[in-house]
Amino acid sequence: MAIEWTSDLHTGIEVIDDQHKRIVDYINQLENAIRQTDSRSVGLVLDALADYCLAHFGFEESLQEKAGYALAKPHKVIHETFAKRLARYREKHNAGEDVAQQLHDMLKTWLMHHIKRDDMAYVSVVKGGIDRMSRDKNDGDWLSRSVKGYFN
Ligand SMILES: [Fe+2]
Ligand SMILES: [Fe+2]
Repeated sequence: MAIEWTSDLHTGIEVIDDQHKRIVDYINQLENAIRQTDSRSVGLVLDALADYCLAHFGFEESLQEKAGYALAKPHKVIHETFAKRLARYREKHNAGEDVAQQLHDMLKTWLMHHIKRDDMAYVSVVKGGIDRMSRDKNDGDWLSRSVKGYFN
């Protein structure tokens, strides 16, 4: 069943919510590709989803560091552990193993849980950091520069 964007996924940080919505779209695209038993499409969606997740993780980590979030390091370790799991699934898929459904279910469960628990935990600190940056003339464009750096 496709993931619906519900209020418990909403961090209130626009730039983060936009990225999380895009990740949810990719997981839903993956579900469609699996349903159509189109292995080539599954591979293409997986590549795009993995690239996007890694860029999102990098951006999120830099934002946490910039805002002085105390749990930035453990959060980064959680991202890295997930990225390794994702890479192992992609290797299996590329080797012709039928892991797409299992991978989809893991992605859906892990990412929703991660947003609701780990990402929600940084919201107040990161919001404070974004507010401070927007008031600082030397840091006013940090956010847009960082988004460009990770996603272009
Ligand atoms: Fe995260
Ligand atoms: Fe996130």
